[in-house]
Amino acid sequence: MMFPEYRPRRLRQTERFRSLIRENYVSKNHLIYPLFAAPGKKVKEPISSMPGVYQMSVDNLVEEAKEVFDLGIPAVLLFGIPEKKDSKGSHAWIKSGIVQRAVSAIKKAVPDLLVVTDVCLCEYTSHGHCGVVVKEKKGVFRIDNDATLELLQKAALSHARAGADMVAPSDMMDGRVGAIREALDEHGFEHVPIMSYAVKYASSFYGPFRDAAECAPQFGDRRSYQMDIANSREALREATLDMEEGADILMVKPGMPYLDIISMLRQEFSLPIAAYQVSGEYSMIKAAAQNGWLSEEHVVYESLMAFRRAGADIIITYFAKDFAKASS
Ligand code: PBG
Repeated sequence: MMFPEYRPRRLRQTERFRSLIRENYVSKNHLIYPLFAAPGKKVKEPISSMPGVYQMSVDNLVEEAKEVFDLGIPAVLLFGIPEKKDSKGSHAWIKSGIVQRAVSAIKKAVPDLLVVTDVCLCEYTSHGHCGVVVKEKKGVFRIDNDATLELLQKAALSHARAGADMVAPSDMMDGRVGAIREALDEHGFEHVPIMSYAVKYASSFYGPFRDAAECAPQFGDRRSYQMDIANSREALREATLDMEEGADILMVKPGMPYLDIISMLRQEFSLPIAAYQVSGEYSMIKAAAQNGWLSEEHVVYESLMAFRRAGADIIITYFAKDFAKASS
């Protein structure tokens, strides 16, 4: 019997050895926790498809933000459910909009918590699309890319004015990073970075989020602006454009089913990379854990580690609080 010279198991005997050679770490310092701001007072509305996640009115969000900060999580990502939706999504940029109010209340109460805002129209439009919809003929609709850019500029600017530390455009219109950069710079917000949803696939893993943010498209789907799930080279083109337009952080979304894309971007770009572990990924783990089919804490740790191993610097996850609690 021939024995190999190199025996990896020698370095796996004890936790001392294992941690001595460990290549990657997950820490709460890398995490961003998503929050859903809703109108009203004392509102804490559970989202049935996402156990443990709530729509909250601004007063409750402030309390939540304090808790997130005390747990040592550095940032939150804010989504808004507006009072009123219309065809253009005007509540996405009004000064008294839900996100604008939530940002200023959180920044006032917890100034050191980074507040990132999702910039998109789908939560605010009556049709649920991320851009301006033009009717071509009966039953045929088109998204007007360039008309949407102006509205996104207004939304991003209104978030910056409310005190957002960073804006995160998720609409996938062409040219939006450049347009938003220009609007921010023109109005004295050169210091506000853009975390671009650079590589966002037309994924079915967003299903539970669309319940949470009440933004499912009323007709058609998002495949004319979000990426085809079959493509990977296209991710390089999207990311290159966003970098050239001034993105500070590149995001890949969804997360776990697209680890190959994260890894590819890691090889090609030196910008920080964020991975979004989306609602469907969260709900799958939660559902299995609730059935006793897997150990939630271990699976969450493993999934976050997978993102780090693939090359993500930042992870946006609904598990951020759970992870921070478990790791402290
Ligand atoms: C769109 C947006 C979506 C998500 C974040 N921003 C949904 C979509 O594109 O339909 C999904 C996040 C998640 O599933 O957790 N503004």
